[in-house]
Amino acid sequence: MKDLRQLLRWLDARGQIAHVTREVAPDYELVAVAKKINERYGKAVYFEHVKGSKYPVLSYALSSREGIAESLNMEPQRMVHQWSCREAQQKPYRIVESGSVQEVVEANPDLFDLPLCLHSDGNNGRYITGGVLVARHPGLGMMNASFNRCQLVDKDKLRVRMMPPQHLGVIYEEAEALNKPLEVAIVIGASPAVMYSAASKIPIDRDELEFAGALSNEQLDVVRGKSIDVLIPANAEIVIEGKVLPHVREDEGPFGEFTDSYVPVMQNHVFQMTAITHRKDAFWHDIYAGGTEDLNLLGLPIESEVFNHIRKFANPEDIIDVVTSPFVFGCFIRLRKRNEQQPKNILLSALASYAWIKFAVVVDEDVDIRKPNDVFWAIQTRCCPDKGVMVIPGVSSYTREDVKDENIGKFGIDATAPLHKSHIYRRRTNRMYDQIRIDDYYKS
Ligand SMILES: Cc1cc2nc3c(=O)[nH]c(=O)nc-3n(C[C@H](O)[C@H](O)[C@H](O)COP(=O)(O)O)c2cc1C
Repeated sequence: MKDLRQLLRWLDARGQIAHVTREVAPDYELVAVAKKINERYGKAVYFEHVKGSKYPVLSYALSSREGIAESLNMEPQRMVHQWSCREAQQKPYRIVESGSVQEVVEANPDLFDLPLCLHSDGNNGRYITGGVLVARHPGLGMMNASFNRCQLVDKDKLRVRMMPPQHLGVIYEEAEALNKPLEVAIVIGASPAVMYSAASKIPIDRDELEFAGALSNEQLDVVRGKSIDVLIPANAEIVIEGKVLPHVREDEGPFGEFTDSYVPVMQNHVFQMTAITHRKDAFWHDIYAGGTEDLNLLGLPIESEVFNHIRKFANPEDIIDVVTSPFVFGCFIRLRKRNEQQPKNILLSALASYAWIKFAVVVDEDVDIRKPNDVFWAIQTRCCPDKGVMVIPGVSSYTREDVKDENIGKFGIDATAPLHKSHIYRRRTNRMYDQIRIDDYYKS
């Protein structure tokens, strides 16, 4: 899919977008309504009228895994396998003279005109949460993309969270060492492939706009910035161009982040806006940190990283799926087991594959790892705690300064049935269960 609009059309055709016509306020209300609708109906939410802004707002666009698979040219059940195949590739982008994201160049750009939201009680103001920040590496020249929250401060000023080892922070330090600002484009409503490239961690010397093309197997069109030397996805919705200033830091936060707790105030970077461009009928994209959309964005790159590591201990086709669910600090692995030692080797490898992974569970191929309750069922009925649980003391997982002491140690659970007793652990079946259509019997 070349742009986010294509995904919207795909979701709309399947009744998977809730259109809210009633006006909502950007302070708390929009986020609360979107969260409730997504929790109850699992849909993306499109707000047509947002108080104080001419832009509609989209949220939870990437909450459906089927939609994500479709937008990346993948199959929902094969996403980690397909991501892993494409991960090493790059697809050069094409620089085009004009793009819809520059249909309008604001004459008097003002950040207060944009529908930035206030997400949680205690947040220090309104934030951009769905922006992909694109910058050029000063030495290597390639484009980096990442998500970074930005706090609204003034009509032309934001504060940005972008600390090393995250690549934007590293790139910024190189510019700062030269006493130069770092030119950055904040891209709102980019294509799903660009968003997924931004959420992934590939080596710093690889161009993440080229990686977006490789991920979806579709060349990306880019335009040159109006006020900065940065390449911008041509079919995005809105772009805020500007510079992150050298040698300037200001207090940013608190902010209610994806762990459902607050990041305290930190000294972060300052962004000076230089231009705003957008489509004629642009919409804004808001991502609720820790919501299904955010967890899907964070999850798939982690799942693929786990898969890349554990495939050394199994035929890759025997690793049927890997899922971080319901949160990204743990993962479930669905395995066609070949010997009794295999789950332990896989657990060890999974726990080492990604810093955040605090626990991992290996289950048999007949367990649905996309349903956490099925995994709990497997732990309760198949795990032998005496020999199926491994604890790795002393290693760290999530290292946010104020909670890092509680994130020491990792554990793995082998919840597979012994191979020689597979006939005893066989799940019962009912030949009609998959055949009947419930609507033929009962309508709610
Ligand atoms: C919605 C969303 C918001 C994010 N916000 C931040 C942020 O504010 N600061 C940060 O360092 N990482 C944030 N991340 C994580 C980075 O975007 C992610 O680690 C990315 O892979 C880093 O890219 P890099 O390969 O350029 O280092 C966020 C991720 C998502 C999906």
